[in-house]
Amino acid sequence: MVLPNDANPLGNILGGRVMHLVDITAAIAAQRHSRSPVVTASIDEVDFHHPVKVGQFIILLASVNYAGTTSMEIGVKVFSEDSLSGERLHTSSAYLTFVALGPDGLPKEVPILVPETDEQMRRYAEAKERRNRRLARIHH
Ligand SMILES: CC(C)(COP(=O)(O)OP(=O)(O)OC[C@H]1O[C@@H](n2cnc3c(N)ncnc32)[C@H](O)[C@@H]1OP(=O)(O)O)[C@@H](O)C(=O)NCCC(=O)NCCS
Repeated sequence: MVLPNDANPLGNILGGRVMHLVDITAAIAAQRHSRSPVVTASIDEVDFHHPVKVGQFIILLASVNYAGTTSMEIGVKVFSEDSLSGERLHTSSAYLTFVALGPDGLPKEVPILVPETDEQMRRYAEAKERRNRRLARIHH
């Protein structure tokens, strides 16, 4: 639930607070897949489509979209839910890359990801394309 301490003077949750929740939600998904400590390597651009107001619920759903050798792409969808009417709005989507670390603090291999459903296969293919674009950008 969004509380006053999360909000700006207009009574809407701060973007930075949403990013914090997105990071933690995605880290949980990455840590569950790898069963290792993980660090955030990158966060793709994030748009905020609707405000989430004090008293509303903020709902975050994460999915492991792709696993490389030591990195994983996690997608997070953010929704607001009005506590009285139940109306749910999609407010943001974010793609984050996490790297699993071994006890030596170096990147460690993660289990392969086997997409099964049509949706998982679509997410996997799209994540692979984003990964290629990301790596082209950082190695440029
Ligand atoms: C993320 C980090 C561990 C990568 O270390 P590195 O020495 O570049 O490791 P590598 O070159 O072996 O890359 C490891 C993996 O990370 C991926 N990676 C590295 N930098 C990346 C970036 N900026 N964006 C997306 N993926 C990245 C690589 O593609 C590789 O993936 P793969 O194994 O699936 O092919 C290192 O940069 C780091 O510790 N960064 C700080 C992380 C952190 O503290 N985050 C919290 C916020 S400050």
